[in-house]
Amino acid sequence: MKLRLAVVGAAGVLVMSAGAAAASTSHGSNDSLRSLGAKIGLRIGTAVNANKLNSDAKYTEIVADQFSTVTPENVMKWDAIEPTQGTLNFGPADQLVTFAKQHDQLVRGHTLLWHNQLPGWLTAGVGGGTIDNTQLKAILKKHITDEVTHFKGKIWQWDVANEFFANAWDPHPLADGINGDDFWVQHLGEGIVADAFRWAHAADPHALLFYNDFNIAGEDGTNAKADAVLAFAVKLKHAGVPIDGIGDQGHLDTQFGFSGTAMTQDLQRYADNGFKVALTEVDVRTFIETTDANQTPTDQLSTFAQPYEYSQMLKACLAVRSCISFTVWGFDDADSWVPGFFVGEGYADIYDVNLNPKPAYTDLQQDLQLAAHGAQHRTGSGAHS
Ligand code: XIL
Repeated sequence: MKLRLAVVGAAGVLVMSAGAAAASTSHGSNDSLRSLGAKIGLRIGTAVNANKLNSDAKYTEIVADQFSTVTPENVMKWDAIEPTQGTLNFGPADQLVTFAKQHDQLVRGHTLLWHNQLPGWLTAGVGGGTIDNTQLKAILKKHITDEVTHFKGKIWQWDVANEFFANAWDPHPLADGINGDDFWVQHLGEGIVADAFRWAHAADPHALLFYNDFNIAGEDGTNAKADAVLAFAVKLKHAGVPIDGIGDQGHLDTQFGFSGTAMTQDLQRYADNGFKVALTEVDVRTFIETTDANQTPTDQLSTFAQPYEYSQMLKACLAVRSCISFTVWGFDDADSWVPGFFVGEGYADIYDVNLNPKPAYTDLQQDLQLAAHGAQHRTGSGAHS
């Protein structure tokens, strides 16, 4: 017989029955996203702004209470790790790793090979001709080896390579869909992606190694990018390259529409080909009143579309057994990257600018509650009860 440990109180709050554990533990309060996800083995994560951690008590409390995996938003990127050539700065990332351990969280390492946020000395050296391609490859190998070795045993999933595939608007895709204009591809050829996975695996054989990108789970309408990523990943796997998973970033914008069904099918397709999958950078942006610090949407319907798209993404992940984590790219609008990168847009996160939960939070929580507990069996629904 199944023991019922919890009953839903009058206010809709989970109340523990006598003898059960206290409501709040270091593993998150009972109705937190992380606790609900834990019941089905799904990690719920957030990108973390290292400057806010431990300096903002409410922010820090939410990271600890709601999430079971964390991703450094910036502090593991190459420009943060090696701002001066040969001088490695692991301090801020180490702090996050320590925090995660204290709070029983796993870490997604982000990211080893990307065209953005490279150190100035590297891009200047390549541009100015003082770093040739042979040297560049050696420098990259050292970077990946040093960083993965430093964090060996402490990283659950590494985003080894990030954003290599061309979008419909990129002018020079290669035959297999890789972006021919990518910095790394231009200098070292597309084989560098496989090299990165091999180097990362050699440095930490137990970390799960992911390829990470956006618009690779049906979001672009054509699915061309998803097809290309799948074919490429399968080719790597068959060649013996140590690639374990595919991460779809999940950066959505309410103006473009979205199909949860397409996302589910694409995630399932990666899974059917032997890959773990993860939603790695989920947020849903919309147009906002830019003069208003609260990031109020210009169109009231966005306040429904925004949580809907969050919920659809979570359900896509829930539907696919190999989807092992669902990570939001920051949880509060005040710290979101969106207003700085997309003119006139915001309201992208699940907490508002004052760190209070928004409808998107409540929808994720409800979805996880149903996934974790199921719906109660109806009573009195038959003709004769
Ligand atoms: C963003 C961060 O959120 C910003 O703080 C930073 O200035 C730029 O990068 N895809 C990725 C992330 O893989 O690393 C990016 O993060 C957002 C898009």
